[in-house]
Amino acid sequence: MEIKQLTETAARILRPGMGILAADESSSTIKKRFDAVGVEPTEENRRDYRELLFRTAEAMRNHISGVILFEETLRQNARDGAPLVRLIEEAGSVPGIKVDRGTKPLALSPGETVTEGLDGLRERLQESYALGARFAKWRAVIHIGDNIPTSAAISANAHALARYAALCQEQNILPIVEPEVLMEGAHDIERCAEVTELVLRTVYRELYEQRVVLEGTILKPNMVVPGMAAPRQVGVEEVAEYTIRILKRSVPAAVPGIAFLSGGQSEEEATAHLDAMSRMGGVPWRLTFSYGRALQASAQSAWRGIPENVPAAQRAFAHRARMNSLATLGQWSRASEAAAA
Ligand code: 13P
Repeated sequence: MEIKQLTETAARILRPGMGILAADESSSTIKKRFDAVGVEPTEENRRDYRELLFRTAEAMRNHISGVILFEETLRQNARDGAPLVRLIEEAGSVPGIKVDRGTKPLALSPGETVTEGLDGLRERLQESYALGARFAKWRAVIHIGDNIPTSAAISANAHALARYAALCQEQNILPIVEPEVLMEGAHDIERCAEVTELVLRTVYRELYEQRVVLEGTILKPNMVVPGMAAPRQVGVEEVAEYTIRILKRSVPAAVPGIAFLSGGQSEEEATAHLDAMSRMGGVPWRLTFSYGRALQASAQSAWRGIPENVPAAQRAFAHRARMNSLATLGQWSRASEAAAA
């Protein structure tokens, strides 16, 4: 393990005012996104769509410091034959790879899942490194419901995250550690806070156990929010305060950065929440975004698979990237949305 290389990768991804584009939707997830905008889920359409994003120079050069890719994309070429990975590198951004193999039902724990993909992971990391990936992502998923999450689900998922992170570091690939507490459900923000704290504390204990060097990692957590069906929704400041309080209690200061997932928040909510946390200040980590839906939803609606719509889709993506960049600096406002839209 070359710790210097890992910390340098972290520093490149965590450059001020920049964040991560999560474009690593699996073939089944991107099918759902394409279905919503009437696009056939073919390999060529997936390529065209991602090429459109990676060729958005204004976003890629100024606001996106890392891009998480699905395996297929790591090996795909643009229409003109250039590897898509090269487009990302040429824009000055770091290519990364999703290496988990998705969630499976956790045995004997109804309603809960465990993320799989450790078998053969060392070899897959070596191949991904050779293709240009310098960081990786593994997403663990925690469900909130009646009597869940169980400690069985939390510990199984945290253990797998730590095994993954150790393998990444062995291969000089920076691990993004993503324990996502889902927004589905009617639970209140207090319950999300309690579960998120327990999950994060467990994850950091497991990372320590597996000798993961925290300086060479980035955390990708959920924000602390009420369930989507909760009777009481809360304001932006409340989300920011709860989230920062829980992170301060459970994430060591040695972690260089926290890149939030958007997890089903609207584009503007995800931006507003990040902005509010950036304004609070007083935390030891750099705060940024690692958004999938919250960076791409309006670009996908603008595109609809029609070549003539590519410039409009690129404008929509560049706009979201710019808004989130402002949010990492605590300089976003609803007026900036309107001014630029
Ligand atoms: P969302 O921002 O859409 O949650 O996606 C981020 C991600 O990579 C989830 O694993």
